[in-house]
Amino acid sequence: MAVLKFFIAILLLSLINKGLCACKVNDKIQISTVRTGKEVSGKPEWGVKVINNCNCAQKNIFLRCKGFQSVENVDPSLFLPSADGRCLVKNGEPVAPFDNVSFNYAGDPFFFLPLSSVDMCS
Ligand SMILES: *[C@@H]1O[C@H](CO)[C@@H](O)[C@H](O)[C@H]1NC(C)=O
Repeated sequence: MAVLKFFIAILLLSLINKGLCACKVNDKIQISTVRTGKEVSGKPEWGVKVINNCNCAQKNIFLRCKGFQSVENVDPSLFLPSADGRCLVKNGEPVAPFDNVSFNYAGDPFFFLPLSSVDMCS
């Protein structure tokens, strides 16, 4: 009887684990910004990496980017600002676990904050 209970407990635990997403709430999206060393129109250029720091893919990644300005054209399919101060990463497409989306901009240093994303835990 004890053996049966043990196996039922293991079974339940494994079911629960399957449904759990391993993304941590606080740092599942990380943003790194480094100077590229170039200048564009007299402004420093920055390389930004939006990193999926989770073992699940994430999609619909939005950053807070109110007031963001760049003198260099930023590819909107990588990083699309909207009027409400949110920026969409990679057209909302999934970013694989521990992969990143990178783009450059030139201007004053800007502090991006992760706003929201959708975990794709299967
Ligand atoms: C970003 O992705 C590239 C290739 O996709 C990889 O070589 C690089 O290590 C990644 N950088 C970070 C900080 O994850």
